[in-house]
Amino acid sequence: MYAAITLLVFMCLTASTYADHHHPCHAPNMTGFMSLRSMKGDVKAYGAFTYDSMGKKLRFRSNESYPTNTSLGLDLLMFFDEGIFYEIDSKNQSCEKKTLQCTQHPLDIPNDATFMGTINVGSPSIEGEGIKTNVWTGSMPDMKGHYSMSVTMGCLPVCTMYFHESSAFIVSITEVDSEIKDPDLLVVPSCCLAQPLEETPEGTVNSFLNEFM
Ligand SMILES: *[C@@H]1O[C@H](CO)[C@@H](O)[C@H](O)[C@H]1NC(C)=O
Ligand SMILES: *[C@@H]1O[C@H](CO)[C@@H](O)[C@H](O)[C@H]1NC(C)=O
Ligand SMILES: *[C@@H]1O[C@H](CO)[C@@H](O)[C@H](O)[C@H]1NC(C)=O
Ligand SMILES: *[C@@H]1O[C@H](CO)[C@@H](O)[C@H](O)[C@H]1NC(C)=O
Repeated sequence: MYAAITLLVFMCLTASTYADHHHPCHAPNMTGFMSLRSMKGDVKAYGAFTYDSMGKKLRFRSNESYPTNTSLGLDLLMFFDEGIFYEIDSKNQSCEKKTLQCTQHPLDIPNDATFMGTINVGSPSIEGEGIKTNVWTGSMPDMKGHYSMSVTMGCLPVCTMYFHESSAFIVSITEVDSEIKDPDLLVVPSCCLAQPLEETPEGTVNSFLNEFM
């Protein structure tokens, strides 16, 4: 696992640069696993995700975090087009409905991203021993940081790095299938239906990444 992370960091950092007039691609529907780590090595979250790329809906259920338990059992359902999300606690059937102030997330390349280059991880010439990725970069919406995203030629995200003020995160995506295996995961659970929209405290920014900062 650590070797894989090191490789991903390397991939993210060593994109060859050349001018190209690419437009950011958009990922297909996906089911897979996502891990979020801080550069210090803390596992902020690890768990299964389901993503509807047309409907811009994401479900992420974290079942691991280390060394703190902060996101153990964290269950998020995000509707990026509507700009709202639910924080679900299935243990006590409770739910919070909140506004998303920022809709950036690690599965979709922002439309204003800059193309950095193409990099072959492993071998480009030995069958099955390499992966060709495109690397995209850009600023965070608050301009206090930047991101770097690597995606495959079919636009499956491989890894995204966020550098934000004093913190940095690496998000790795693994075991991806390009389909939604369980569409019910993208339906608002019954315990959330009657939930009023919570007010966002002054100065708070809700986003996918902010859930782990
Ligand atoms: C992606 O999933 C959504 C929701 O299940 C579905 O409506 C849509 O047709 C799917 N898109 C593709 C390209 O399969
Ligand atoms: C988290 O969930 C995945 C898949 O559902 C499973 O493979 C893994 O063992 C789980 N981890 C823990 C700590 O429960
Ligand atoms: C994390 O969770 C485990 C089991 O759920 C518990 O024993 C442990 O005290 C928790 N640690 C913290 C720092 O909350
Ligand atoms: C459900 O549990 C979470 C923490 O496990 C707690 O913060 C929340 O207040 C609980 N909600 C209800 C309705 O009991």
